[in-house]
Amino acid sequence: VAWRPDNAPKWSTLVLLALMGTAVTVATNPGFMARISQKGLDFACIQGVAVLQKALEDIHIPNFSGIFKVKHLGKGQYNFYSITVDRFQLPRPQVKLQPNNGLQMSIHNASIRISGKWKAKKNFLKAGGMFGLNIEGVSISAELKLGRKPSTGYITVTCSRCINHIDSVHLRISGSKLGWLIRLFHNKIESSLRNIIHNKICKIVTKSVSSKLQPYVQTLPVTAKVDAVAGIDYHLVAPVTVTEEGVDGQMKGEFFSLAERSPPPFSPPAMAFPSNRSSMVYLGVSDYYFNTAGRVYLQAGVLNMDVRDHMMPSRSKFRLTTKFLGTFLPERTNASLEVGTKSNRLIGELKLDSRLLLELKHSDIGTFRVQLLQKFMDYLVPTVVLPKVNERLLRGVPLPLPAGAYLYNMVIQSYQDFLLLGADVHRD
Ligand SMILES: *[C@@H]1O[C@H](CO)[C@@H](O)[C@H](O)[C@H]1NC(C)=O
Ligand SMILES: *[C@@H]1O[C@H](CO)[C@@H](O)[C@H](O)[C@H]1NC(C)=O
Ligand SMILES: *[C@@H]1O[C@H](CO)[C@@H](O)[C@H](O)[C@H]1NC(C)=O
Ligand SMILES: *[C@@H]1O[C@H](CO)[C@@H](O)[C@H](O)[C@H]1NC(C)=O
Repeated sequence: VAWRPDNAPKWSTLVLLALMGTAVTVATNPGFMARISQKGLDFACIQGVAVLQKALEDIHIPNFSGIFKVKHLGKGQYNFYSITVDRFQLPRPQVKLQPNNGLQMSIHNASIRISGKWKAKKNFLKAGGMFGLNIEGVSISAELKLGRKPSTGYITVTCSRCINHIDSVHLRISGSKLGWLIRLFHNKIESSLRNIIHNKICKIVTKSVSSKLQPYVQTLPVTAKVDAVAGIDYHLVAPVTVTEEGVDGQMKGEFFSLAERSPPPFSPPAMAFPSNRSSMVYLGVSDYYFNTAGRVYLQAGVLNMDVRDHMMPSRSKFRLTTKFLGTFLPERTNASLEVGTKSNRLIGELKLDSRLLLELKHSDIGTFRVQLLQKFMDYLVPTVVLPKVNERLLRGVPLPLPAGAYLYNMVIQSYQDFLLLGADVHRD
């Protein structure tokens, strides 16, 4: 995904420079929210069905044998063996959102082609040949429950219910001699094979969910490292919910210092997610996310370094510190952040609409001349602070996406307290 400044709207917030927090409250709102819409689920289902088809084609069907009895001729024995599933044709599944409950996946009119060998024995007579079995009108319905492992914050997915139904089974026997005799028992043979398949389908569906889907879902990062300074906490703060709009995951969405983590003195605002359905996924990035980023980088002294080392007159005790910025950034200086994505990272560029006008409000540093400082700031902000901040912003931060998934067709919209990113997903 290319960085496209043209469709990246301006978002008026001080972002990395903003530190002004509100009172400490219990953080119940997510700092980051992800929604998978119906369109996203449909896409996921197409991906998933290829995996399921492979698992179903690997169904192992054991040998089976039986006795046949014919009037005047007496008893004989037949064996079916080397049975393989040649093709398990799965039409596109449908996935339905079941609010407060989970997801329901259903497949209609699947068909199965099976082949194998048979042999039969009647006294001294022995014969054998091939057989083919067509199973048609197979329907499968499975319910998926989504949850959260409280200890780790991971999403869990389980198959809570599965039923399947087979409409018709048709056996074809080829081979001379006793073939006609076997054909007499086709009903019995058909129902045996039908039962074997019927009993296996849901076992395989349930197992595929736990052995394939669950590990895949767990590739969603719960923490992501940004750089040497910061990490992002993406663990779920509440169980995954299913609504008519989609599957919602509420995540912490908080930057933290890798050196020493401490709770931010402000909390996330509530995000009033709009109901958009045209993209596969929607990501809500709260201003909390950006403000925690600003806090971590400022506390890490990332901005102080260059200023101190290269810009400051040697005799000055003045340092560009958090307190300094908090004290001197004049209200309503307009700063804007342009955001976009690049290789699954959220990137941005901070811009100041006008130069920072300084006025002395409060100083612990002592008295000094505002005009001098203004000159200093006029030079410092565009040449040192902004490039420094933007260098970081353009490197981007990782988004919580599962392995191999990429975003495209990005749409960005800004709301009062959060950014809404809509995107489609493709997979490697
Ligand atoms: C299935 O039957 C074939 C032919 O009778 C035999 O060779 C094979 O060993 C059997 N397999 C099992 C698992 O019993
Ligand atoms: C079911 O699938 C078969 C092919 O496997 C097709 O001929 C038939 O029309 C399908 N029936 C429905 C109701 O879609
Ligand atoms: C900030 O933007 C608003 C609206 O665009 C404008 O009215 C105001 O004058 C700007 N303030 C500064 C300091 O540029
Ligand atoms: C959400 O829907 C509105 C109205 O249909 C549209 O204008 C907006 O661009 C959509 N936002 C996203 C992020 O898709």
